[in-house]
Amino acid sequence: MKDVSVGICGLGTVGGGTFNVLTRNARLIAGRAGCNIRITRIASRRAREDMDLGDVPFSTDIYDVVNDPGVDIVVELIGGYDAARELVLAAIRNGKHVVTANKALIAVHGNEIFEAAEKAGVVVAYEAGVAGGIPVIKAVREGMAANRIDWIAGIINGTGNYILTEMRAGREFSEVLKEAQDLGYAEADPTFDVEGIDAAHKLTILASAGFGVPLQFEKGFTEGISKITPYDIAHAELLGYRIKHLGIARRRDDGIELRVHPTLVPQSHLIAQVDGVLNAVLVDGDAVGQTMYYGPGAGDEATASAVIADIVDVARAVATESNLRVPYLGFSPEAMEELDV
Ligand code: HSE
Repeated sequence: MKDVSVGICGLGTVGGGTFNVLTRNARLIAGRAGCNIRITRIASRRAREDMDLGDVPFSTDIYDVVNDPGVDIVVELIGGYDAARELVLAAIRNGKHVVTANKALIAVHGNEIFEAAEKAGVVVAYEAGVAGGIPVIKAVREGMAANRIDWIAGIINGTGNYILTEMRAGREFSEVLKEAQDLGYAEADPTFDVEGIDAAHKLTILASAGFGVPLQFEKGFTEGISKITPYDIAHAELLGYRIKHLGIARRRDDGIELRVHPTLVPQSHLIAQVDGVLNAVLVDGDAVGQTMYYGPGAGDEATASAVIADIVDVARAVATESNLRVPYLGFSPEAMEELDV
């Protein structure tokens, strides 16, 4: 079996989870990938004294990964916009494939990154950026490839859903947010979670994959949960509704509508039953009808599960020398001409 070499940039919550799962399940992952996936380099600004990295070389300069000629796939888990953009573009220039969990990066700089990747003949994969461990990008792009998708809607921020769930039980907003941060669910800047920005990043990416349109983060409507009070929650419940923070993308005659905001959902609807850090995404396709994807939306090993699914996809392509296994782009350039978006 061939070896495919992976370099990890960033050893925080998701980076640590990725290292642990790839190491623990190496044999079964190799069986599925058809090649050995070896972590050959790790770099992170901060060392993890709590982790045993075995004999994998570690450094604090993330460019050691990108500039290592032996690395086939760079796994970007540093987060943020600018430093991650520079890193990913440098990796692409060096002919590396990239796997990222960084939704902010893809939502805001994805068009530029996909274009650079296409020119360089490498793949940028981003499953872990949307809905944590739920393989929803693959479901939309591959499982529903036959469908015209008319709308996508769901709970796509675990921290926000966790806060709303716990507030229903009478707990304080700030106390629950602190807990979500301690559990590693929240973004480095938690205003991204509570003001809807993280959900808007994810919705932008889902819409691009689902409708075949370019990423257009700046065009969506975004409202978070920071103004929701216990009074709002209690009154919604009295009326038979539950407040859920939803991302909604809908095909319209004049383009694609993108919105993220708190929504009153009938208590009997499946989405109303999704509690805690769980996410759920409904996708409506003209052939299959309504489908729903449900599972952990954040957390170290749950997100690592999606990161590794992408690594496996890309590693298969590397091992078989076929870059066609994973599409280069999140959208089809032809669709840009056909749709007024
Ligand atoms: N902060 C994000 C969330 C992490 O709570 O959903 C996963 O993307």
